Amino acid sequence: MGYTLTIIGCGVMGQAILSSIYNAPRADDDLRKYYPSKIITCNHSASTAVSITKMIKGFGASPNEIEVVATYKNNLKAVSEAKVVVLGTKPYLVEQMLEEIQPVLENKILVSLAAGWSISKLEAYTKKVSRVMTNTPAKYGYGTAVISHSAAITSADRKLMNQIFGHLGLCIMLPEKNMDAATALVGSGPAFVLLMLESLMESGLKMGIPLKESRECAIKVIEGTAKMVGETGQHPSVLKHQICTPGGTTIAGLCKMEEKGVKAGIINGVEEAAHVAERLGRKL
Ligand SMILES: NC(=O)c1ccc[n+]([C@@H]2O[C@H](COP(=O)([O-])OP(=O)(O)OC[C@H]3O[C@@H](n4cnc5c(N)ncnc54)[C@H](OP(=O)(O)O)[C@@H]3O)[C@@H](O)[C@H]2O)c1
Repeated sequence: MGYTLTIIGCGVMGQAILSSIYNAPRADDDLRKYYPSKIITCNHSASTAVSITKMIKGFGASPNEIEVVATYKNNLKAVSEAKVVVLGTKPYLVEQMLEEIQPVLENKILVSLAAGWSISKLEAYTKKVSRVMTNTPAKYGYGTAVISHSAAITSADRKLMNQIFGHLGLCIMLPEKNMDAATALVGSGPAFVLLMLESLMESGLKMGIPLKESRECAIKVIEGTAKMVGETGQHPSVLKHQICTPGGTTIAGLCKMEEKGVKAGIINGVEEAAHVAERLGRKL
């Protein structure tokens, strides 16, 4: 018999998590205990609950027979049934949500997705707390999740969290001091990569390659390069130099990009996002 996982505030990120767990490949008997048998989503509006139900219907049956019940304006009841509660509202609503559900939170694992909400602030409501920073590609199983735990999270709880959030793509544990950096690198990261993807696409377009083919080439170049770095284990600079013929096209292009400050722009941009995450956290 599995357990119930409740998602309070099942929007973009909540639905990414819901989709990845619901669609996870069928697990063997040893792993089945880590899967919820039921997921309850709870939103503010009826229309979101309806669209979640439609989305789940569109997926077909869950390989692990997970039942999904999409509700709205039902937070307290939805949390009272759960073993694991994922809080997926925007950060400014987290305090209101926690005040509402605190009476039924005891002994449950509270997982917060909210940028800026520290573990110590969450611990004021319940002791078993995990803080997760993830991103939108999680919806397709290609996400990244960085996770930090409170002291009350046991090794069994940690195993459960790793299994649940492993379905998002990659799940790694880091100390909480790295969360602002993870917010920038992981949470905002897809937007930065999309900017690069868009730029590559438009470079093809500018030079006469039709939009559709420019898009296909840009996607494959980014996907293939990331796979090559992952699979070879080589440092990107080593692989980069393998593409550079002396006096050739690639080194000429790289020099022009360096002249425009592309690398420093990316590093400074990610750092700026982390500074904003830190400032927002202080204001909460
Ligand atoms: N989006 C990203 O790329 C991203 C990346 C990293 C981290 N995050 C973090 O993930 C969290 C969620 O962000 P998001 O982009 O997924 O937000 P979102 O799409 O706006 O989803 C939030 C959901 O909260 C629901 N909600 C509002 N009031 C509620 C209430 N009183 N009771 C229950 N549910 C309520 C809304 O439901 P209705 O639809 O019914 O109004 C909405 O669907 C944030 O804390 C953010 O910091 C997001």
